[in-house]
Parts: sequence; structure tokens; C-alpha cells
Amino acid sequence: MRNSQTSGLDQHGRAGVAMLGAMQKFASSHVRNAARRAYEGTPEAQATLTAPEGADRLRIMAWVQQSRAIAERQPLYRIERFMQAYVAQSIYEFGIPAVEARRAQFTAEPDAFVDDRIELDPDLVLPDYHDCDWHLRPGGWDGYDLYGPHGVHVVKPIFALGGFAAAPVGANIGQHRLDVVAQLPRRDYARIYEPGCGNGSTLIAIHRRFPGAELVASDLSAEQLRAARRLTGTLSIPVTLRQRDAATDTGEADATFDAVVTFALHHELPHAANVALLKEMFRILKPGGDIILSDPPPFRAVDAFHAVLLDWDTDNRAEPFFSEAGASDWGAEMERIGFVDVTARPLGPDSYPWVTIARKPGDGG
Ligand SMILES: C[S@@+](CC[C@H](N)C(=O)[O-])C[C@H]1O[C@@H](n2cnc3c(N)ncnc32)[C@H](O)[C@@H]1O
Repeated sequence: MRNSQTSGLDQHGRAGVAMLGAMQKFASSHVRNAARRAYEGTPEAQATLTAPEGADRLRIMAWVQQSRAIAERQPLYRIERFMQAYVAQSIYEFGIPAVEARRAQFTAEPDAFVDDRIELDPDLVLPDYHDCDWHLRPGGWDGYDLYGPHGVHVVKPIFALGGFAAAPVGANIGQHRLDVVAQLPRRDYARIYEPGCGNGSTLIAIHRRFPGAELVASDLSAEQLRAARRLTGTLSIPVTLRQRDAATDTGEADATFDAVVTFALHHELPHAANVALLKEMFRILKPGGDIILSDPPPFRAVDAFHAVLLDWDTDNRAEPFFSEAGASDWGAEMERIGFVDVTARPLGPDSYPWVTIARKPGDGG
């Protein structure tokens, strides 16, 4: 039987993707639950099940490292992590040949046609931190010309079962984006900006919630922007896509947006770049404009076992800034920049999605 989500691949590709998704789900549910019980049954874990109250970033990281040392002595934890690592590697080791087998189909629409409808910047100086094999992806975001279809036909069906990184098993990651944008306090935004739009998944959610708003989005990656153009074009969603470094200069005029949405962005930037990006968002927002950030939950909002799982991505799934972001408090950083009415809260199980909402002072929004 053809699975509509993986139907772009041949039979071998579809079967492999289904197997990886099942393995991911089994690891993240049955095996992980057993590993958690073993962890929490350890006397040494009992005293440190939650983050120390009011701790700064260094103390939070010390708590996570102490908890990790306990977890790593548990066989079930190690088996669960082995399964996670196997799936994460196979998404590329298996997934790239599976997409390659259908190259002719995936290159039917030439890039030139797509590129005409994106503002690419060949002179953009990419920040050093962008040079990373994100999620074990060979060559990073721009390392392979078919990462767009690979995202749709390999990554998406596996991620859609949840259990990957911060998303709990059974989570609906498409619904997450809709839930996040629905937290914005108004319905009448005229212009909305998304930095780090990736393949455009969040732009779909923004458009569904705010169909009358003009959307502008940016990303560092040309390949991701092409994927976003194809996705939004297929769904006839009007959006302006620009290749920009949103942490240095979006190129947008001061005070020209009513709202900003970020999704799964901040854990991919070093702390200083995140602060710079938030300042840039403050600059382009109109007075009274709203911002919502959604990223994996901070360590302080989850228990010790969960914090260890999140921290694992830093060393094992090519997420060099995952732990740095987890130890940060974006709400506090936003208050320092000048945002007001800052609130942060979880929307679902395992504190995911986690949202931080704030407003630029003034009444011009
Ligand atoms: C995990 S993806 C998230 C994509 C998207 N927001 C979504 O909801 O799926 C993060 C994206 O942020 C982009 N990015 C990272 N740093 C950036 C920066 N300084 N300016 C613009 N985009 C950036 C990356 O290229 C990548 O495509």
C-alpha cells in the first residue's frame, strides 16, 4: 500500500523510511519509558530530579551534566540513545540514496524557475556557525541540491511520528505550528515576519491563521528558501522570501512589521547571535508589535531525565548550540532589549512546544 507521505520514493525508499519511523517511535515510547523508570529509581538521581531554583546558566549546565553522568550508567538509556543515533544517521545514510533514485522526478522543475521568485544574495557573508552538518546532514543546509525533497519524503514522515529531539512521541508537529501562531494576541496584523523560515512549514501555519497578512521571511540557506518557495507556491501562499542573515541585517526598514514569529530557530544560533537577532526583530517591529518565539523548552522547564535527552543532541545530532540555548532565558534577554509584557509557557506535554511572547512598547501596532 502506498503511504501518501512517502509516495515520492520508490518501494525500497518507502519501506526504509517506514522502518526508521517505527524504530524512532518505539525508542521514544516503550524503550524511553523504561529508561526513565530505571533512571528515576536510582537513589543518586532522586535528589536532583528538578533544576535548582533560580539557577544561572552555569549552575543549570552543571545540573544537566551531573544528571547525564547518572543516565549514562543506565543500560536502557544507552540502548534508547543508540536507537535515536541510528535513526538520525540513517535519515541521511539511507535517505539520500533513496531520494537520488528519483532524481529525475525531483529535478523536473529547474532551480532557475524557483530562483526567479526568491531574493537570493550571492554576496551574503554566511556566519561561521552556519557551517555545520546540522542534524548530521552532510554539508549542512546547503550541502545537497535535493535536501528539499529529502525533507518532504524522508525527514517529514519520520518526524511526523514525534519522538525526535524535543517533540514527544505521537506529537503532531504540523499542529504545533498552528498552536504556536494561535498564541499571538491579535488577529489583525497587516505584515508578519519570520526569520529562519527554513522550508516554509511555519509560513503555512501563519498564513492559515492570518490569511490577510503580508508575509516576509528570510533564511541564510538558498536550498531552504527554494524548498520554501516550492512549498508555499504549491499551496498558493503569497510570501516574499529573502536570503538574509537575520542576526545582522534583515534589510527591512525600521518599525515596518506588526508581528514576528520564530519557530525552531534559536537553538541553531550561538547566544550572542540570538541576542543580536532579537535586537533586529525589535528594530523592525512597529511600536505595539508582537513577537512569539517557539523553540525546545529551556532546561529549567523540564525534569532531569528530559534535560539529559535534550542535551544529548548537542554532541550527538550536530546541534552545537542546543544546550547553550536550553540554558538560556530568552524572555529575560528580551526584557533587557526593551520588550515588555514578556510571558513564557509550554503548550503541550514535555513542555513542548514552548513559547515566549512579548511586545514592543508603544501603541502604533
Ligand atoms: C530548524 S530550521 C527551522 C525552519 C522553520 N522555522 C520551521 O519552522 O521549520 C532553522 C533555519 O534557520 C536558519 N537560520 C539560522 N540562522 C539564521 C540567521 N542568522 N538568519 C536567517 N536564518 C537563519 C537556518 O538556515 C535554518 O533553515
